[in-house]
Amino acid sequence: MIHFDDEKSKAAIKAFTLSRDDIEMTAAALRYDIGLALKNDERTSLNLLPSHVGLPSGNEQGDFLALDFGGSNLRAARVRLANGKATVVSKKDKPLGNLTGASTTASELFDFIAALVDDAAGHDHTTPMMLGHTFSFPSKPTDDGDAILQYWTKEFAVKGVEGQKVNALLASSLEKIGASNIKPVAIINDTVATLLASAYTVGDTFMSSIYSTGFNVSYLERFGGKERADILDMNAGGFTKVITNYYDQHLEDETDRADEQKLEKMVSGRYIGELMRLALADITRRDDLPNMTSSDVAAIYDGNDAGKKILTDILGDDTDEASQDAAMHLAEAVLRRSAALAAAIFCGTLWHQDANIPQHIAVDGSLYKKVPLIQNTVHDTMTELLKDEPLNMRPDIVTIDDASLIGAAIAATMKK
Ligand code: GLC
Repeated sequence: MIHFDDEKSKAAIKAFTLSRDDIEMTAAALRYDIGLALKNDERTSLNLLPSHVGLPSGNEQGDFLALDFGGSNLRAARVRLANGKATVVSKKDKPLGNLTGASTTASELFDFIAALVDDAAGHDHTTPMMLGHTFSFPSKPTDDGDAILQYWTKEFAVKGVEGQKVNALLASSLEKIGASNIKPVAIINDTVATLLASAYTVGDTFMSSIYSTGFNVSYLERFGGKERADILDMNAGGFTKVITNYYDQHLEDETDRADEQKLEKMVSGRYIGELMRLALADITRRDDLPNMTSSDVAAIYDGNDAGKKILTDILGDDTDEASQDAAMHLAEAVLRRSAALAAAIFCGTLWHQDANIPQHIAVDGSLYKKVPLIQNTVHDTMTELLKDEPLNMRPDIVTIDDASLIGAAIAATMKK
């Protein structure tokens, strides 16, 4: 029977606990960083990327192919748009499996993607079809409607894609299988897709987020009316002005790109399990604990039989009640910190927008949708940080299903 060292568990829980001031400071620093980035001031930690798509009018319509590539699962579908209603038909998905690492080449990856797109298109090699592509990594749009991958995130490391035009790679794989009738006409980030999907189906949406394997936010930048408004992909996961702890620093030492995507490593599903594992390893003075996922952390917090079993499997033995309780509080602290930081990013962005108009923030992503503690903490933190703001500056959060597929189709119609 395992018993946690009391002092060590308390210290670990404390390390993941942010004060109200910490959270407010993070929100203020984010707002400041947006301002610096817009002035091209190098002191910013944000890499704001234009999307070159404005808000949809609501009149977009037609049938499109949509591809969603950005997490562990690949999705392709036909999407029908009509009068502000989006329907996802014939969805196909496939796990990427081990195709995300450095031993995979660009053509292996894009041949795999093209095969799934071909499946979703029903292997029709004659009817011309337009494809919208949600590609969820920092990418810069090019004048010909393509986008260049700047660098991989979320521990992806496939060779030969960084610095390349992504839709050109996809088009060449489609051509190889005789599917040149499918034209990738648009490529956007998943947060941009989420904003488009919500603006089209719900309306009044000027900010969006993906809270899942990765974490990111986009918003509508109005440039003070001096330039045409554009949806900017904030690359919020790369924000660095955050207060890290001992476990965050330890995690940095393990990842491919140390000191990059700092906020994402504290917030997103790709890293939550590892943070919990590092803390449990420290508390129990072990260095042989197996990998954990964010769902494991959520189950441990729930404290039900499934969660207790996960804890036993990870530690290799039963824990006494006090230690189970400590594990639960630790899981809670890790999840709460993630949500509080996400809320700080939303508030900092709102303060930058300074738009006193009713609006929704659109969110998609499994971590947000499946973990009530995350949802509640985001809500409570925002309520607290915005309590002195006028009512319109206190937006509600709407969750959007299939946002990446729907947004990709909307982008395809806007680019056609
Ligand atoms: C990572 C990617 C970003 C994406 C986010 C959510 O942060 O760099 O582009 O939007 O994950 O998938």
